[in-house]
Amino acid sequence: MEKSYKELHVLRGVNFEVAPGSIFALLGSNGAGKTTIVRILSTLLRPDAGTATVNGIDVTKDPLRVRESISLTGQFAAVDEILSGRENLVMVAKLRHLKNPGQVADDLLARFSLTDAGSRKVSTYSGGMRRRLDIAMSLIGQPKVIFLDEPTTGLDPEARIEVWQVIKELADQGTTVLLTTQYLDEAEQLADRIAILHQGRIIANGTLAELKQLLPPAKVEYVEKQPALEDIFLALVGR
Ligand SMILES: Nc1ncnc2c1ncn2[C@@H]1O[C@H](COP(=O)(O)OP(=O)(O)OP(=O)(O)O)[C@@H](O)[C@H]1O
Ligand SMILES: [Mg+2]
Repeated sequence: MEKSYKELHVLRGVNFEVAPGSIFALLGSNGAGKTTIVRILSTLLRPDAGTATVNGIDVTKDPLRVRESISLTGQFAAVDEILSGRENLVMVAKLRHLKNPGQVADDLLARFSLTDAGSRKVSTYSGGMRRRLDIAMSLIGQPKVIFLDEPTTGLDPEARIEVWQVIKELADQGTTVLLTTQYLDEAEQLADRIAILHQGRIIANGTLAELKQLLPPAKVEYVEKQPALEDIFLALVGR
């Protein structure tokens, strides 16, 4: 697919597939177009050219059906500050027509270590608590495909590991996860496949092992040093 904002050609020909039930990480520098891809796939933005299907459904021809089978956690939290954490969850559960919205909310609060804070207004939450609540909201209704745009940006190490755990569990249960990240260790930890977006194109796409083969191991004395994903990323984007 392709996408420009006026004269700015952000996506010049982006092509990739994500296997059902897998975790796919999209890496790229600031402004590479990661959020633009997520917005197109979650039907918030139309591509200028090309097609994209999610769950086998065309995002431009049938956006409503796509929306029924996905959820999106955007780069910036979409929680209601005036409501409590629990009220946010109950609201989404009601919007998704679930039977026991209160129970759904309580289960998610427990899963994300937010039970104690559940009745407090979100305006009093820390950044990490907001982020966890935001991800919890996107799990309501068990969507088949989840988009997470920089899910752990701004989280402390402990909260990041908690979020990673949740993402791994989701994939284990068959949910397809597409995440964007600036953190290369996050991609190394989580992703079945990693794609690098640079200057409007996917310049690399493979498993971590495949990406490692793009760079020969550096020989340091007699010990082979495997390249870290960070080395591969910087070599490919030319920095
Ligand atoms: N609505 C818009 N109008 C004009 N330009 C836009 C718009 N949205 C994004 N852009 C531009 O498109 C480019 C890609 O933006 P995008 O948000 O997709 O990048 P990103 O890879 O998600 O970056 P980051 O890592 O900073 O989140 C940037 O140069 C951005 O300024
Ligand atoms: Mg972004």
